[in-house]
Amino acid sequence: ARDLPLAGRYVVITAGGTREPLDPVRFLGNRSSGKQGVALARAAAAAGARVHLVAAHMDVPAPGNVEVTRVETALELREAALAAAEGADVVIMAAAVADFRPAQPADAKIKKRDDVADPVVVLVRNPDILRELVTRRAEHDGGPELIVGFAAETGDAETGVFEYARQKLERKGCDLLVLNQVGKDLVFGQDSTAITILDRDGSAPASFSGSKDATAAAIIERVGSALKPR
Ligand code: C5P
Repeated sequence: ARDLPLAGRYVVITAGGTREPLDPVRFLGNRSSGKQGVALARAAAAAGARVHLVAAHMDVPAPGNVEVTRVETALELREAALAAAEGADVVIMAAAVADFRPAQPADAKIKKRDDVADPVVVLVRNPDILRELVTRRAEHDGGPELIVGFAAETGDAETGVFEYARQKLERKGCDLLVLNQVGKDLVFGQDSTAITILDRDGSAPASFSGSKDATAAAIIERVGSALKPR
């Protein structure tokens, strides 16, 4: 086991989609299934890492051989991810974190009423956890050696999706960015996917397609080779 590529490494992976409450029974959510994050957790564990999965809503079970923290909202995911990231070698932000949450979730179920106007939902911005991880690392000594972001984007090479992803990599300041193309039926919830890995050095984008297990293995292999040997 000692010669496994991630032997002795501690890897934190966030997965699934956050749910932002509107009232006690309703939420704003997204189509993330958690499949890619779970596949990454399995691949990292198979590569010898100790894995902590921070799981928002997922349609699939978490692997049995990893530590799991369940969360619901972006704010909960932030708390759990920042705590789990203490001492981590690698953090992979595969979760679909809501960019916005309802400013003031109702304490009781919102009802239809003929005597009052229909509700208007005001949204406020959630903290960007990926950026916060990067900022904290820059401000303190240590921190994860490798921080990996995801970008789910619609579009293709012709519409400049690689250029856009490269700008996002710069903006977020992470070390690797995994781009996947999404649409209503593409990628989210599907078993297969197409990804492109971009890095800070501006190396040629590396594209992979296939099952989420296969693309997870490719991502984990790249993570393993990006870590300084020790
Ligand atoms: O900006 P965008 O949502 O496209 O960025 C996606 C990446 O940023 C993913 O890695 C996601 O997990 C992370 N993210 C985050 N906090 C947010 C929104 C996204 O960490 N509030």
